[in-house]
Parts: sequence; structure tokens; C-alpha cells
Amino acid sequence: MIALVRGALSRERVVRVRLSETIEAIIYDRPGVWMSDTELAELRAQLRTVADAAIPGPLDYGVFSAQRAPFENRLVVIGRHLGSGDITGFNAMPTLSVKLGPRTVNVLHLGLVAIHPAYQRQGMQGLLYGLGGFSALHRIPDDPVWISNVTEVPAIFGAVSDHFVDVYPSYRHAREAPPEHLDLARAIVAHHRHEFGVGAEATFDEQRFVIQGSYTGGSDALKKTADQAPRYRDPACNEYCRAQLDYGRGDDFIQLGKMDRSVITNFLERRIPAPFRPQAARQMKLWQYPARKT
Ligand SMILES: CC(C)(COP(=O)(O)OP(=O)(O)OC[C@H]1O[C@@H](n2cnc3c(N)ncnc32)[C@H](O)[C@@H]1OP(=O)(O)O)[C@@H](O)C(=O)NCCC(=O)NCCS
Repeated sequence: MIALVRGALSRERVVRVRLSETIEAIIYDRPGVWMSDTELAELRAQLRTVADAAIPGPLDYGVFSAQRAPFENRLVVIGRHLGSGDITGFNAMPTLSVKLGPRTVNVLHLGLVAIHPAYQRQGMQGLLYGLGGFSALHRIPDDPVWISNVTEVPAIFGAVSDHFVDVYPSYRHAREAPPEHLDLARAIVAHHRHEFGVGAEATFDEQRFVIQGSYTGGSDALKKTADQAPRYRDPACNEYCRAQLDYGRGDDFIQLGKMDRSVITNFLERRIPAPFRPQAARQMKLWQYPARKT
């Protein structure tokens, strides 16, 4: 019976979006809530294939722990090559319920992303983040939706700086941390660090929004030297990361920002080939046909 119910729900919680002639994305909403053990093991194995190829060493947190729980608060997006069936990449984004005094703020954490080396440098990272983010936008009832991101990779730090709204820190603007960004960063580092594989011994530098000694809680294999970390298009971003982070110690930025519909429309224009835009927008429920007049 449980398997039947899970199976029935599974059709509603899976969204397929065609990204190009050869690639489709599949979005799974909190698969730990409704997938059977077998389906979940299959999904985890797909993620592991990409991680094994893209990351030099095992990961031991989030979707790579043996638990169901990390799949219960995450949106998982995978890219699939239509011809070969290869999984081209994935990301796994938890929604964090962050307590700020009496308030609880939903924060979409951009989460672990990995692209199979055969498909890197083709814009897949942006596509998978974008799709996951927008899909979350109509599942999280806040407007705008807060996002967080933890990374040492300039290609990711730069993309988050440029594609989301009111992002702090950003390589583009030097400014004081806005108070709400600071409150959220403090609370996330204090209470949600296990979600991104940061161990208890890591410390938070509030001036720079840097988690010092970040690769200590199961994410150790992601630690990179400054030269190994994939570059961003804008050299100013690469220089900013190199100046602010101690790659030897294993520092990460934590970025806070917001997502609203302007982020989506910009994304659609930049990333999805024109012939696929209407279909992608419909599947992501970005717009609806106007109600018929009676
Ligand atoms: C980090 C990682 C996900 C990037 O994947 P990718 O497929 O290369 O990513 P993209 O092609 O979408 O490019 C990301 C950025 O790199 C830069 N980039 C991509 N192709 C480029 C090119 N040909 N020339 C210059 N810059 C390029 C761009 O700045 C791009 O962002 P933009 O398109 O918004 O400007 C990938 O290297 C990976 O899986 N690494 C291992 C796992 C990992 O470290 N994950 C991150 C943990 S936080």
C-alpha cells in the first residue's frame, strides 16, 4: 500500500523540462517523502555516478549519507542525455527553516552541484541551479524567496553574485552586510551547517561572510586549491575569491540573496534556446493562460 501511494504521488512530484536538443532535466521534489526504497537507491546511485566522475574522493553528507532524511527536505535536479541516458549532472537543494527569534524564514540553499566532466563548461551548472530555484519559487510561499550558497568556487560565487537579487557578499559591490543577511548567515552557520558538510570546528568570520576550515564535516573531497577551483567569466570575481579565501585552510563564502520572478525571466532569456522557452515556462508554471471569459 505504501509503495502504491508513493508511486501515485511520484508522478505529481516529478517535472521534466527539455533543456536542449539532447538534454532534459528532471526535477524531483522532496523524493525522500514519497519514493520507495528502491527508487531512492536508484536516484542516489545516479547522483553518485556523477560525483565519482567529478569529485576526487567520497562525500559523506547530505544525499550521500545512507539516510532518507536528506532527501526529505531537498529538491533534486538531474540532467539526462536523451540519446545515451547518461546523467550529465545534478544539484540537490535543501530548504532550510531558519529561526530568527520568533520568526521562521524559509531559505532555499543552493546546495551541492556536480557536472560530469564530459559535460562541464557548457552551462549545465547554471541550468540546473536555475531550474531547481524556479521550481522552488512556486513551492515556497514567500516572495521573494531567500537563497543561500556556500562555496569556494569562483564559477559558482560569480554566478550567484550576478544572477540573484541583493546578494551579499558579491564580488561586484563592497558594502556593509545588511542586518537581515547577517542574522540569516549566523543562524545558518550555527544550526544548519550539517546540510552542507561543514564540521563543528569551522568558525564564521562575520566581517567577510567566510566559513573558515569549512571542509570538515563530510565534504572534505570538495576542497580545492585556488588553481583547481573553476574560474568565473569575470576575472574580477576570480581575484576577489583569491584575495578573500584561504584555500589552504579550506575557506568558503556563505552568500545570502533573494530570488523573485525577475531572476526567472532573465534566466529564461539567457539560458534556454528560444524554441523551448514557452514549453519550459509552462512546465515551470511561470505563467498561465488567461482565464477564458464567460
Ligand atoms: C563547479 C562545476 C559544477 C562547474 O560546472 P560547469 O559545467 O563547468 O559549469 P558551467 O558551464 O555552467 O559554468 C559555470 C561558470 O563557469 C564559467 N564558464 C563556463 N564555461 C566557460 C568558458 N568556456 N570560458 C570561460 N568561463 C566559462 C562561467 O563563468 C560560468 O558561469 P556563467 O555562464 O553564469 O557566466 C563543476 O566544475 C563540477 O562539477 N565540479 C566538481 C564538483 C564541485 O566542486 N562542486 C561545487 C561544490 S560547491
